[in-house]
Amino acid sequence: MSIYILAIESSCDETAVAISKDRKICANIIASQEVHSKYGGVVPELASRAHIQKIVPVVQEALQITFPEQKNYLDQLNQLSAIAFTQSPGLIGSLLVGAQFAKSLAWSLEIPLISVNHLQAHVLANLIDKEEINFPFLCLTVSGGHTQIVLVKEALSYQIIGETIDDAAGEAFDKIGKLLNLPYPAGPHIDKLAKFGNPTAFKFPIPKAPDLNFSFSGLKTSVYYFLQKQNPDFINQHLQDICASVQQTIIDSLLKKLKKAADDYNIKDVYLAGGVSANSALRKQFSELGVLKGWRTQIPKFEYCTDNAGMIAMVAQLKYKYQQFANLDAEVSAQSIFN
Ligand code: KG4
Ligand code: ZN
Repeated sequence: MSIYILAIESSCDETAVAISKDRKICANIIASQEVHSKYGGVVPELASRAHIQKIVPVVQEALQITFPEQKNYLDQLNQLSAIAFTQSPGLIGSLLVGAQFAKSLAWSLEIPLISVNHLQAHVLANLIDKEEINFPFLCLTVSGGHTQIVLVKEALSYQIIGETIDDAAGEAFDKIGKLLNLPYPAGPHIDKLAKFGNPTAFKFPIPKAPDLNFSFSGLKTSVYYFLQKQNPDFINQHLQDICASVQQTIIDSLLKKLKKAADDYNIKDVYLAGGVSANSALRKQFSELGVLKGWRTQIPKFEYCTDNAGMIAMVAQLKYKYQQFANLDAEVSAQSIFN
């Protein structure tokens, strides 16, 4: 019998709901919150309120897509085997909305509740639709809040072997984009503009971080001082070259440490995950490096790179298999926790 799990992801500014059937995703709905764009970043209080407004219609849409033959919501809900939610890390108010909604559903339907770590979900988005997967594998997770190299020895194990000591890679894209007057989040805009620019036009130093760790805050500072020295029209005239050069600096730093990790741990299965893995130049250069190094590489489909509930529903299937259920009093956490 197939296991259907409804998963809610509300850790930041996307209200996302997915339904998984075993390793397949039947519905993957994301309602983005436009309310933050005029503030140049996510406003936590507004995010929580927007989740409350959006969560019911998004759940209804996911149910309708997955169970069109069922006549009403109760019949649709009765097909579910468990309810999953993102427990950490994230904005507390936002996480609470998803957690409370998930608990209420699980309790009223008398089915198990499953708590999921958002970062583990980014990594395991690589398993969606896959019959077979080789363990151990390495995953470079690059998102707005985190940059980590993770060693995954088996499905639910998670060992961080390198991470940023200051800003995350996505944060670097977003903060530098702000200096360039680009809309938030700036990553996708820098990606588009960089396609028409020269990645070697400008040299930006990148601070060294020990071992397999990363550092990106110095890059933002060096771009800031570089721009200060130019005349007012400089950004407009050189925007594409600046974007391409900044992007290349970030990619060089990421791939250098990923290569070192794969060599140090002698691992040939190497994956990417997280919002920044939607970056076209990173995807291309990662794949090329993989060919050069003889890696078996993998990157989630675009819709499973940036925040989504499909990845939460994927982890939930694994946790369901191992009967790792949460209690109805499970707490959410801004910091990353595993249980
Ligand atoms: O994983 P994600 O959706 O949310 C977090 O968990 O943080 O990642 C969001 C980050 C943002 O910093 C955004 O600018 C970046 O991913 N991003 C990109 C691209 N698409 C999203 N960065 C560079 N190039 C892109 N195409
Ligand atoms: Zn994320």
